[in-house]
Amino acid sequence: MKTFITIFFFGLLFTMHGQAQNTMKLDFDAAQYTIHKNIYGQFAEHLGRCIYDGIWVGPDSDIPNVNGYRKDVLEALQALDIPVLRWPGGCFADTYHWKEGVGPVEERPAIKNVFWGGTLEDNSFGTHEFLNLCEMLDCDAYISANVGSGSVEEMVDWIQYMTSDDDVPMVNWRRENGRKEPWDVKFVGIGNESWGCGGDMRPEFYADLLRRYSMYARLYGQGKFQRVGCGANSRDYNWTDVVMNRAGRHMDALSLHYYTIATGNWGSKSSATGFDEELYFSGLKNAMFMDELVSKHAAIMDKYDPDKRVPLLVDEWGIWLDVEPGTEPGHLYQQNSMRDALIAAITFDIFHKYSHRVKMANIAQMVNVLQAMILTEGDKMVKTPTYHLFNMYKVHQDALFIPSKITCEDYKMGDESFPAISGTASRDKAGKVHVSLSNLNPDKKTTVEVDVSGVDIEKVNNASLLTASAFNSVNTFNIPEAVKPVGFSDYKLSKGVLSVTLPPHSVVTIEMQ
Ligand code: AHR
Repeated sequence: MKTFITIFFFGLLFTMHGQAQNTMKLDFDAAQYTIHKNIYGQFAEHLGRCIYDGIWVGPDSDIPNVNGYRKDVLEALQALDIPVLRWPGGCFADTYHWKEGVGPVEERPAIKNVFWGGTLEDNSFGTHEFLNLCEMLDCDAYISANVGSGSVEEMVDWIQYMTSDDDVPMVNWRRENGRKEPWDVKFVGIGNESWGCGGDMRPEFYADLLRRYSMYARLYGQGKFQRVGCGANSRDYNWTDVVMNRAGRHMDALSLHYYTIATGNWGSKSSATGFDEELYFSGLKNAMFMDELVSKHAAIMDKYDPDKRVPLLVDEWGIWLDVEPGTEPGHLYQQNSMRDALIAAITFDIFHKYSHRVKMANIAQMVNVLQAMILTEGDKMVKTPTYHLFNMYKVHQDALFIPSKITCEDYKMGDESFPAISGTASRDKAGKVHVSLSNLNPDKKTTVEVDVSGVDIEKVNNASLLTASAFNSVNTFNIPEAVKPVGFSDYKLSKGVLSVTLPPHSVVTIEMQ
């Protein structure tokens, strides 16, 4: 009877509103996979002001800090429930020699960051500082080992140093350096972008190296962590094919990197601020390409790994824009707008859909680099729209993914178009249902009828909205709260249908039970 009433009610709404009706139908019976919390992972590279200035100012700094970590940034990150953090790169990882970053700080040699602006770094942030940060954030550690310019021996020494409790030289050295217990390292990347900055290799050559490094990583790691094979650059499907075919059995996960370029042209990106509607549209559209990418790479993985033993980890993603005027081009310091928060929402909606294969993702990067959560300047800090989006979406971490079908109007630009509504739903362990919806149309508000009749929903517990006066609004050090979440009340729950009216360029998350 209940189902009949809902179908009747839904049908009535269609009739009343004609063709333009926007609907989302949740299929609770088809729910099967958990949204892995690690999809909400972060990435912090030695690049520009991500580590130094952004996270680490040192214990003697005038900027308030906790043992050298910026207090404001630490607290903001702690509030985000970060599940996993990848470090030290990126391209930097394949130039990094970890032994230079442990021991007394005054004895650590300076290094030149050859990939990122040639900046000199004093190595004051190293293995201890990173792994202790992970403990402070209560997140898993994901280390990227140096395959490009390092050696198996260097990697094995690092693994022992971090994870072993044996009476061997590397472990005794760690103890001398002040850490008695081993750390819990959950992921070790075997190289980064080995097809590019990580050694410019062919997939056949990399597959052989992966087998070799993986074997010793397993022996010395004693199965304590997952070995992540270096995956493809965007649509390089051949890379995935060759590496899965030749080394699929020698890894515990495979990565994938994809960056959104609003112009579609790496040589000529676009400003992070003040961009027009065409770049708003193309930014969103190019972010949606993640769907095709994940689906095609996953299909190749299925050929060699039908049981889905090897998860796909999208361990670098996000929008890559022009650096802020006047900043070092190699430091990749960019602003972050309401559009970029929508890109994060769309991307999470896609990752959730592929929960059966995608078990981790790491946005690039956590502080002061690319699509950052946080920007800093001296002692000032600002949370970006993307930070707020992550905060609103964190309710989906480790929740059961509820498949849904969205039928909606298109948002058009010239001859091109895409669905104006993106969304996702999940049910957490306490039985609460969370629905997130984005209205990508910047010109009109839109009502979506969400059919939640598949389970007994009594009420809406709370709802939040992220929007701004314009799609290119940003938070600055002078106006830090131009884009921030607010309480939301433009919804109605009746007879198994949640009717939500979304403002232009907005995201809403609604909790029901
Ligand atoms: O995130 C910035 C850079 O992008 C990383 O160092 C590299 O892995 C990728 O090309």
